[in-house]
Amino acid sequence: MLQYDYGSGEERGWILSESNFDSGMLGKGESIMALGNGYMGIRSAYEESYLQQKRNTFIAGTFNKFDGHEPTELPNVPDVAEMKIVLNKEHFSLEKGVIETYRRNLHLDTGELVRTVVWQSPLGNRYRLQFRRFVSLENKHLTGTEVEITSLTGSCTIEITSGINGQLTNTGAQHFREGEKRIYNRQVLEMLQTTTESNIDFLVYSAHHWRIDGEEILVEPAATMSRRRIDASYSYTAAEGQTVSVEKLSMYYTSRDLQTQDMATAELRQYALETSTAEFAKGYHALFSESRNRWKQYWEDVDIQLDSPNVFDQLSIRFAQYHLLIMTPAHDTRFGIGAKGLTGEGYKGHSFWDSEIFILPYFLYNYPDLARGLLEYRYHTLDGARKKARENGYEGAMYPWESGFTGEEETPVWGAANVVTGTATKIWSGFIEQHITADIAYAVWQYFTATRDDEFMDRCGSEMLFETAAFWASRVEWDEAKDAYVIKNVIGPDEYKEHVDNNAFTNYMAQWNIATAAAHYLDIRENRPDVYERLNTALLLDERYPKWLELADRLYLPAPREEDGVVPQDDTYLSKPVIDITKYKRASSVQTILRDYSRDQVIGMQISKQADLVMLMYLMNDRFNEEVQESNWKYYESKTIHDSSLSMAVHSITANRFGDREAAYECFAEAAAIDLGPNMKSSDEGIHAASLGGIWKSIVFGFGGVHMKDGELHLNPRLPESWTRLTFPLMWRGKRLTVTVTPGELEVRSDSAGEFTILSGNKTYAVNGSLKIKL
Ligand code: BGC
Repeated sequence: MLQYDYGSGEERGWILSESNFDSGMLGKGESIMALGNGYMGIRSAYEESYLQQKRNTFIAGTFNKFDGHEPTELPNVPDVAEMKIVLNKEHFSLEKGVIETYRRNLHLDTGELVRTVVWQSPLGNRYRLQFRRFVSLENKHLTGTEVEITSLTGSCTIEITSGINGQLTNTGAQHFREGEKRIYNRQVLEMLQTTTESNIDFLVYSAHHWRIDGEEILVEPAATMSRRRIDASYSYTAAEGQTVSVEKLSMYYTSRDLQTQDMATAELRQYALETSTAEFAKGYHALFSESRNRWKQYWEDVDIQLDSPNVFDQLSIRFAQYHLLIMTPAHDTRFGIGAKGLTGEGYKGHSFWDSEIFILPYFLYNYPDLARGLLEYRYHTLDGARKKARENGYEGAMYPWESGFTGEEETPVWGAANVVTGTATKIWSGFIEQHITADIAYAVWQYFTATRDDEFMDRCGSEMLFETAAFWASRVEWDEAKDAYVIKNVIGPDEYKEHVDNNAFTNYMAQWNIATAAAHYLDIRENRPDVYERLNTALLLDERYPKWLELADRLYLPAPREEDGVVPQDDTYLSKPVIDITKYKRASSVQTILRDYSRDQVIGMQISKQADLVMLMYLMNDRFNEEVQESNWKYYESKTIHDSSLSMAVHSITANRFGDREAAYECFAEAAAIDLGPNMKSSDEGIHAASLGGIWKSIVFGFGGVHMKDGELHLNPRLPESWTRLTFPLMWRGKRLTVTVTPGELEVRSDSAGEFTILSGNKTYAVNGSLKIKL
């Protein structure tokens, strides 16, 4: 069971706590309590092994392809978290004996995972064990574990076998060759493995230190090497009441690491061994304290405080911000964020529109440099997107629906069983879910508007904007009947509608992409002649511009229906039959409708997987008045199962905009519960990265009312009834602001010098230091 109000005083709202052990529900804790630093992520499987565990460690950007029939995926790298513990000849396992006390806490403030157990063995011996683990925010290669064992009944021979386990696979796919193993000075274990296709070398080091009541002692290990595995086995007999602690420190390096990528394997090996040995000498506590200081700094920058009677609300935003940091490869702009972060094999580590539309805004308003880094990832993969466009007969850049290292399409072609035919269902997203190309352009423009970073635009952003517009311009076709250009045969955000024509979200986003590129073309031609020269030569801007101008005007944009303001999601949606979907909306797991109906049957009905029209209202809310937003929200929400974790947060924000605070809070609470909530099966494959970004967005964009329009910052907060205060930081044009909202007042503070303006309720205010506005 998860406990959300654990801890007293200052600690409350910072600890994600688990109060019992359940071997049937391991996946949830492994994912939501995962540790990481953006370079690596380690699922929090226990030290001792269990049948239903999923041991995963991933290193960002290190994709490998098992064979030509499968897309690339992040390989599950050799594991260092595992330890076999034998106490007086009995295997320590919580599935045996009696658990007298159990507590596992993830400290969101420090990034440490602590488990404390009092265990009675089947033979009746009692032990107290405490496990601590962290992944360093200071040294991205490093992770450490400390195990303390105290025998409470008589002396105890403690046997520990611990090492580096390269026998793991990604659900059966082994991504590594056997490699080499070695032990240095009877202390430092080394494993060198290389991926089978991408040829990335992985170097893993581990060392152990033993202490008795705090004093280091030398316990000589017996080393064993077997296929893809190297271990050190220790044995030590402790007296009753004596606390034995075993520290295990480990480091990972790869030949893809930016700083060392030019080194030959032997040189990297030497370097990695030396730096690992030097770090190991510092010991768990010193290393952890370096990392803890980094976490402290992070929270000083980003912490959001809210006064809600429900402590879950406070915990949920910190939980989201914890994960948003550990999922993000801030160290290397060649890598993207996976849909499950680095916490599980789900979606193979691939990046989706989740990154630009759901996660990037968090960084844009907290660490704009990291937002730029995420966009640079898409710049690094632009050639892959160009290749996809070419191969499909289009111009410009067509971004892949699922993206790995190269920017080529990585979406698997076959998926779950079709309940009617018994065959595998074809996944069409990689072929026709094309809105991602406009979503990326949209994020580029958001970044530019918020930061005015010309350097980025000149180097990357303008090219991305023009190439994505060029794709759409070659993708549209003329429709005589509609007397407009149309986009046929796509999947919009709602993946329960395939092969549709004129998906409103796609058309509006494509039109926006083209119109923005056209305006930007004029701007650089006028104001940045060098950039214009270069890009015009490379991308034929002069030639493309007239078509963009025409399309900006004549691309078909479905309009609200006269009778009720409903915008058709696509050409046929509104003519399909409606069924009662209450059962599926209430189900505790997702996609249960596909157990009753085949995908084709679902496609034939007015059933939506997730926000689609509502998503459009959210991104383009200036184009639709509040009444239209409300009627569409009501129409489509009743047909939406929310079978994607991307759905609820967006419903929350839009409901808030048209003033339904109750619905806004309900949807926020549902979004916040996706990973953190009591459903113990929701996160087995990994956390839901986009939904975590969505939690931040529901608070800051929804309740906090932050909105950027025409390059201006608008603040129109609307707190949920039950909240009495919300305080959040916001980076705006190089200034760090603190925004505080209470039911009657909005306060904006900035510690940096200089005046700036904000808008609230359509009035412009100048802020110099601090400003209070009555609400
Ligand atoms: C959703 C997509 C999302 C993907 C990855 C799918 O289930 O329908 O919108 O991008 O998951 O999170």
